[in-house]
Amino acid sequence: PVPDDHVIVLFGATGDLARRKLLPGLFHLAKAGLLPARYRIVGSAPAQSALSDDEFRKRAREAVAEFGSSKPEGKVWQEFEDALSFGAADPDDPAPLLAAVGEAERAVGGSPRRLFHLAVPPAAFASVIETLGATGLAEDARVIVEKPFGTDLASARALNATIHAVFDESQVFRIDHFLGKESVDNILALRFANGFFEPVWNRDHISHVQIDVPERIGIEGRAQFFEGTGTFRDMIVTHLFQLLGFVAMEPPTALSAKPLRDEKEKVFQSMRPLDPAHVVRGQYAGYREEPGVDPHSDTETFVALRVELDNWRWAGVPFYLRSGKSLAQGRHVVTLGFREPALRMFPMAARGHGARNNELVIDFDDPGRIATRFLVKAPGPAMRLSEADMVFSYAESFNSIHALEGYERLILDAMLGDQSLFTRSDGIERLWEVSTPLLDDPPPVEPYAPGSWGPDRVNRLISPYHWSLPGRQ
Ligand code: BG6
Repeated sequence: PVPDDHVIVLFGATGDLARRKLLPGLFHLAKAGLLPARYRIVGSAPAQSALSDDEFRKRAREAVAEFGSSKPEGKVWQEFEDALSFGAADPDDPAPLLAAVGEAERAVGGSPRRLFHLAVPPAAFASVIETLGATGLAEDARVIVEKPFGTDLASARALNATIHAVFDESQVFRIDHFLGKESVDNILALRFANGFFEPVWNRDHISHVQIDVPERIGIEGRAQFFEGTGTFRDMIVTHLFQLLGFVAMEPPTALSAKPLRDEKEKVFQSMRPLDPAHVVRGQYAGYREEPGVDPHSDTETFVALRVELDNWRWAGVPFYLRSGKSLAQGRHVVTLGFREPALRMFPMAARGHGARNNELVIDFDDPGRIATRFLVKAPGPAMRLSEADMVFSYAESFNSIHALEGYERLILDAMLGDQSLFTRSDGIERLWEVSTPLLDDPPPVEPYAPGSWGPDRVNRLISPYHWSLPGRQ
């Protein structure tokens, strides 16, 4: 489906996210024929970083050239570039923005839908939303709000109140780009379109779950953002908890926004408040020397933790989550560890050193792969077991030409008005609520070597199990 005609307004148009993801992503949607028949994109930023239309077009061209999947050239690029304009917005002077939006609407013709994308620092959310309310721009519009959504329960509640004073929840699209990744949607397909995964997807068969998102990159010049945020707020309370919601949810009654989000929120309701004793906070050696970082900084660049769900499907099954910067690999992996068979007929010695129980490994690096790890008899006269894999690979099975990046998929969904893959106010508030014990009483940060898998204690955290990464490559 192609969305209705739109005027998209990008707040934070001069920022990093717009440059790396949003402008290249919008152009990719144009290339894929998924933007509306008629559209305009208005960039916006505070007056001190205002651009002319031509400067904004030039920036967009550079962003697409550097980060886009196709070059800024040809007919589609020309149309895309022509659709760009700029309007500065300050709370006390929204006139340039109003003029730019008015002009864009006239250029589109009819009554196009307005979509606001708030790619601005959390501290700026409230003033942009108030401006949208005060100017009447919010009427019938949709708004995409970036993460992190608040920094704790009180600030998330306050932000929700600010938003709800101007927008109805049906107009609000809180974005978490992990939920736009192909393989996350595929968790739903895997579980609910097949007869043989779901029957074992529970405490009777699964001993533990791992959600592991190590990153090789460091903070990449984002010291100012990162110092005030840290890995828990940047990655765990957002991306990893949302993934957990998809892995753990009950079958929804339908694949539409309300039933899907209801089931995900129920998972969050069943989460036990986090116990700081089961959390490892780490900081890579050298972080405090990065430009812009406080030499005594206590900000974590790594978190591993144990999460428990008090519900019938998962009681007693620990979920281990890990994410951090400057680690050995950049990966996105969910692993379900299966219980031992009821009877062991094979002597331990014969199982081979380091053999693990069965695992289902969902690797959602783009383009993604799913593997089951099990034991087979190694050829030869003796009964010796060896590990084996059955692997499905997106790249080998499909032409990924139709694949969209997380942001692209979600911006398209927002234009179509589909909230299924966006987070909801009740769920976000619940996630901050379960995080409160940790935020109030965080364990001290432990150092780790860049290029490692985090502080040593992560192995004790998951004991008697083992992290499935790095795995056998
Ligand atoms: C962002 C975080 O939301 O996600 C970054 O702010 C992180 O710190 C990024 O690097 C990871 O996203 P992806 O899709 O590259 O794994």
